[in-house]
Amino acid sequence: MKWFKIAETNKVDASIQKIKVNNQIICLINTNGKYVACNVKCPHAGADLSNGWLENNQIVCPFHRHKYDLNDGRGAAGQGDYLPVYKIEKRDDGLYIELPEKWWKRLFRI
Ligand code: FES
Repeated sequence: MKWFKIAETNKVDASIQKIKVNNQIICLINTNGKYVACNVKCPHAGADLSNGWLENNQIVCPFHRHKYDLNDGRGAAGQGDYLPVYKIEKRDDGLYIELPEKWWKRLFRI
C-alpha cells in the first residue's frame, strides 16, 4: 500500500467527485467532513458511481441502485458483490489516499 496526496487542503466541498490519482480514476466521497474513496466503476455492471448518491453511509449506484457500504465496501444483502474502498487521511498539508501498489511495480522494485 502507498499513500498519495490528492488535495492541497484537507477540506473538499463536493459530496462525491471523481479524481485521478496514480493513473487511476477514483471516487472521493465527503460524508459530513469524513472522507472515503472507492472505485469509480460499479462492480455490478460498470456504471460511474460518481453519478450516484449517498444513503446511510452507503453509495447508491445510479444504474440499478445497488448499495455499497462505505466502511468496508460490502454490497447490500442479496447483492453478493464488493466495492473496493480506500482510506483517506487528513494531514496538515492536505488529503492523502492509500492505494494498493500495482503488482508489476511490486515485482520489479528489487
Ligand atoms: S451498474 Fe451499478 S448497480 Fe448495476
